[in-house]
Amino acid sequence: MIQIHDKHFVPFISSKELDFAIASMAKQVENDFVDEVPLFIGVLNGAFMVVSDFMKHYNKPCEISFVKMSSYEGTATTNDVKELIGLDQDLTGRSVIIIEDIVDTGNTVAKLKKIFKAKGVKTLKIATLFFKPDAYLQDIKLDYVGIRIPNKFIVGYGLDYDGLGRNLPEIYQLKE
Ligand code: IMP
Ligand code: MG
Repeated sequence: MIQIHDKHFVPFISSKELDFAIASMAKQVENDFVDEVPLFIGVLNGAFMVVSDFMKHYNKPCEISFVKMSSYEGTATTNDVKELIGLDQDLTGRSVIIIEDIVDTGNTVAKLKKIFKAKGVKTLKIATLFFKPDAYLQDIKLDYVGIRIPNKFIVGYGLDYDGLGRNLPEIYQLKE
């Protein structure tokens, strides 16, 4: 058991299982994009580890770029607004695969999908290492899912609890 801030976490998914899931996602994508050079887009901060390992298992020509959804405070009377930053490339006619660490409610993925669709991409796919089906509120299809997990908070392998835990090589789950 480990402690991060005020909470306790127990080991949940080993690095071996993570590697297996990521390798199989990479193979699926490889088979779906045989004659193309896909552009992978990792969503920071959480996806940095999964993108790194995914790329090592992807053995065909490809490109990689990163974006970030930045939330900035609106005025006191408006809600938080999320904006996409870091996209500096023409996506017209490209096959784009967004790589996420985790899809929870799906709000982030819905927003990303809307933004990328407006950029004239040829194909847009979503790949996520983790998916919480019981928390998902969208009807958008997730094209590549590594591991389906229960609706409980996890940390490690890029995912944080209030800033900490991203450097853990394995996944820990919140202890009840
Ligand atoms: P969404 O609800 O699908 O939009 O996910 C929003 C974001 O919440 C994700 O990109 C993660 O940064 C974060 N998140 C959701 N579930 C977890 C979790 O179990 N651990 C750490 N972060 C999470
Ligand atoms: Mg994320």
